[in-house]
Amino acid sequence: MGHCLVTRRLPGPALGRLASAHDVEVWPERLPPTPAELLGHAKNAEGLLTLLTDQVDAALIDACPRLRAVSNYAVGVDNIDLDAATRRGIPAGNTPDVLTETTADLTFTLMLAAARKLSEAIRAVGEGDWLTWEPAKYLGADVHGGTLGIIGRGRIGRAVARRAAGFEMRVLSVGREGDVGAMLREADFVSLHVPLTPETAKLIDANALKKMRPTAILINTARGGIVDQAALKEALEQGTIAGAALDVTDPEPLPQGDPLLEAPNLIVTPHIGSATHTAREQMAELAVDNLLAGLEGRPMPHQAN
Ligand code: DGY
Repeated sequence: MGHCLVTRRLPGPALGRLASAHDVEVWPERLPPTPAELLGHAKNAEGLLTLLTDQVDAALIDACPRLRAVSNYAVGVDNIDLDAATRRGIPAGNTPDVLTETTADLTFTLMLAAARKLSEAIRAVGEGDWLTWEPAKYLGADVHGGTLGIIGRGRIGRAVARRAAGFEMRVLSVGREGDVGAMLREADFVSLHVPLTPETAKLIDANALKKMRPTAILINTARGGIVDQAALKEALEQGTIAGAALDVTDPEPLPQGDPLLEAPNLIVTPHIGSATHTAREQMAELAVDNLLAGLEGRPMPHQAN
């Protein structure tokens, strides 16, 4: 029986399975442990079940001499130094598949909400500004029949493309080798579905935004660091693009008063791509499966390194 640190309470029964095999400490707060708190609580752990809000860097891994397995409660593993884990022979798990369709649903939700100016319309009703049916108010863009540019041909990108077929959209998807610039020039909607890596950091910068149509809308349900937020704010203010919907930002949360929040035609949601009961409970099951396997020396069902 090893000591495992779980850095937040998780929905569903999965942690019970971990607790029946190991000594489990669950970080009880709503906010994540600070790096110092994480270090203090992880130093004797053999297993770590972490969230995307925890930095599992080389310093943390070095400070945990008994550590044998890390399991991330996310498909993205940009918060984990995979090389450092690999050097120590520590498997690092992640939770793909179970959140694919759920995240694709949110991508479409955001695309529709931004195109149809949903937050503006809801706000108007709340503020008593729904005075009558008006022919030229709250006019947005059609999603059906539009051209959707998808950056990333992984599971979630493909799931978004499947939804687009139902909206009779033309899909232009670009993988590692594709011509992003050509796609940006043609797309009415651009949706990002790549992991955050040194190659994809600020992939959508001022230059990329200039290639987009003035009527185009950017959707990001991947990682905030893929977009240059200062350039995005400027593009929204100048009308270089028509709107953006971001479920992810850098940092998260965006501090109150962050200049980006003042940009027009911007929707920001608090990183809820996988936030359904089903997906989050299945993520917990998979994260526990990964950790149990890693601690028993078996291959993890989903290992990222
Ligand atoms: C992930 O899994 O990486 C998402 O961002 C959160 O579910």
